[in-house]
Amino acid sequence: MNKKITVVGAGNVGTTTAQLIAEKNLADVVLIDIIEGVPQGKALDILEACPLWHSSSKVTGTNSYEDTASSDIVVITAGLPRKPGMSRDDLLMANAKIVSQVAKNIAPHSPEAIIIVVSNPMDAMAQVTMNVTGFPSSRVLGMGGVLDTARMRSFIAMEAKAHPKDVKALVMGGHGDLMVPVSRLTKVGDKAIGDVLSEETISQITERTKNGGAEIVAFLKTGSAYYAPAASTVEMIKNILGINDETLPCSVYLNGEYGISGVYAGVPVKLGSGGLEKVVELELTENETAALHKSAEAVRELMAKIES
Ligand code: APR
Repeated sequence: MNKKITVVGAGNVGTTTAQLIAEKNLADVVLIDIIEGVPQGKALDILEACPLWHSSSKVTGTNSYEDTASSDIVVITAGLPRKPGMSRDDLLMANAKIVSQVAKNIAPHSPEAIIIVVSNPMDAMAQVTMNVTGFPSSRVLGMGGVLDTARMRSFIAMEAKAHPKDVKALVMGGHGDLMVPVSRLTKVGDKAIGDVLSEETISQITERTKNGGAEIVAFLKTGSAYYAPAASTVEMIKNILGINDETLPCSVYLNGEYGISGVYAGVPVKLGSGGLEKVVELELTENETAALHKSAEAVRELMAKIES
């Protein structure tokens, strides 16, 4: 029997995620939204592409949480996207309300699901989801680091004229303005990035990575990125399903790892059938650790705002 993945939010990120899941024949998909007709129409459109993809995924759209019952994985993309000039944090209160409502509806129907939170500001929204569902933190994950790292890798590949698959990078911390691209651990092939690109170029790439989302919002004007966010979410799904076995930077609830406790932040992890299997603790420099802590504290501040 196929696995069942519910995608909440039939907007840009949600439908692109549903499309990729179906195209890769990873699971059956239930697309749910508050708007009537849209998830049904988009799901049917994706389903009708499945014969061309040689995929047996069943894709359905709904407005009723009963249809999401017994999902193995739930992806939450419901919420408002950014407009030009907005930071992810500007979405805080509106999306906290939406994500709480979604989490409350998902939990009783899929009590064993692994939840991947995409809605922004993502780290805080993951923590809201864990609190509202009461799920163990190992089953509530946030998608941000995979995306930020993919952005960094593509910028490096462009500058170094390398194939992106040969570029290794790592972005840690919250999925916000204070994210921490760890350029020290970045490699092109077997060479350190410092041997391939100048200091100035590396620092431009670091800045461009931090502003990667905003750069796209500034072009689109009426929405935010969705192709790379959806692909990043699917990369997490493939690791949960055991199709891939990578170390991925994901937002997880930290219990002392990297000296951080009681808050969600992006760190390298191993995922598997239980969700979070292991936090990979790398040795960081003092500056990197300080930047990571600063970024995690910013998430803690967002949580305090929501809870006040
Ligand atoms: N329940 C279900 N769906 C909802 C709810 C809700 N309570 N509230 C809003 N939605 C739906 C909207 O109807 C819309 O179809 O969420 C969808 C959001 O889609 P888009 O506006 O296209 O936004 P998108 O680009 O997909 O981004 C969604 O992901 O990357 C983040 O910052 C981004 O927070 C944003 C989220």
